[in-house]
Amino acid sequence: MDDLAQRVADHPGWYHALDLPGGVETPGYCDLRPFAPTALPVSLAGRRCLDVGTFDGFWAFAMEACAADEVYALDLPDGTQADWPPNTREENLRASRDSGLEWGSGFKMAHAALGSQVKRIEGNVYDLTPEWTGGPVDLVLCGTILQHLRDPTGALERMYATLRPGGTLLMIEAYSVQLTRTHRKLPVAEYRPPAPGTQFTMWVPNNALLRVWATTDGIF
Ligand SMILES: C[S@@+](CC[C@H](N)C(=O)[O-])C[C@H]1O[C@@H](n2cnc3c(N)ncnc32)[C@H](O)[C@@H]1O
Repeated sequence: MDDLAQRVADHPGWYHALDLPGGVETPGYCDLRPFAPTALPVSLAGRRCLDVGTFDGFWAFAMEACAADEVYALDLPDGTQADWPPNTREENLRASRDSGLEWGSGFKMAHAALGSQVKRIEGNVYDLTPEWTGGPVDLVLCGTILQHLRDPTGALERMYATLRPGGTLLMIEAYSVQLTRTHRKLPVAEYRPPAPGTQFTMWVPNNALLRVWATTDGIF
C-alpha cells in the first residue's frame, strides 16, 4: 500500500480526487466526492453505462460502485485531438508535452488499485458509435466536457446515438451564471477564448441551452 501512496504522490498531475484502497487519496483539484451521492441513482444494477471524457475516471468508478452491470469510460488518447481554442492550442500542446503526463495514466493507476472492471475506450466522442460499447447503453454520463468542444451538438448527437431508446443522458455540466440570469428562456452560449485564464474552454452555455440540448434527442 505504501507503494501505491508513493506512486500516487509521484504522478505528475491528478485531476480527480479519488479514494483508493488503504486510505490513499489522489490529490486531484476536482473533488466531486461530495456530489456523487446526489448526482447518481442509489443503484445502477441492471444498467450499462458510459462515462464520456472520463479523465482520471471519477464518474466511471462511481457508477461501478453503484453496481452498474458494465461501465465504459471514454477519453482521448492524447491532446492532439482536443478542441483547444485556436489562440491557446499551441501553448496547450506544448504544456501537455512538457508536463510529462501520459494521458490516461491516472485512470490506469486508479483502475488497477481499485481492481476495477471499467472498460476504457480511447477515442474521440465525435466518432462514438454503439459498437464501441458492445451495443447501446442505458445511461450516458456527460460531465464537464461540452464546454471544451468546438461542436457540442455534434458530440451530443453521438451520445444520443449510443443510448438505447428511453435511456438516460445524465448531464453534469458547467453553465454560465451570468447568461442564465440575463437570458432565462433564450438558449445562448458565451464564446470563451477571448477571456483571459480560460485556455481550455470554447463555449459556455446558459441553463436554457443545456435544457434544450438535454431534451431534443440530439436532433437539431
Ligand atoms: C474537464 S474534464 C472532465 C472530466 C470528467 N468528465 C468530470 O466530469 O470530472 C474533460 C474531459 O473530456 C475529455 N475530452 C475532451 N475532448 C474530448 C473528445 N473530443 N472526445 C473525448 N473526450 C474528450 C478530456 O480529455 C478530459 O478528460
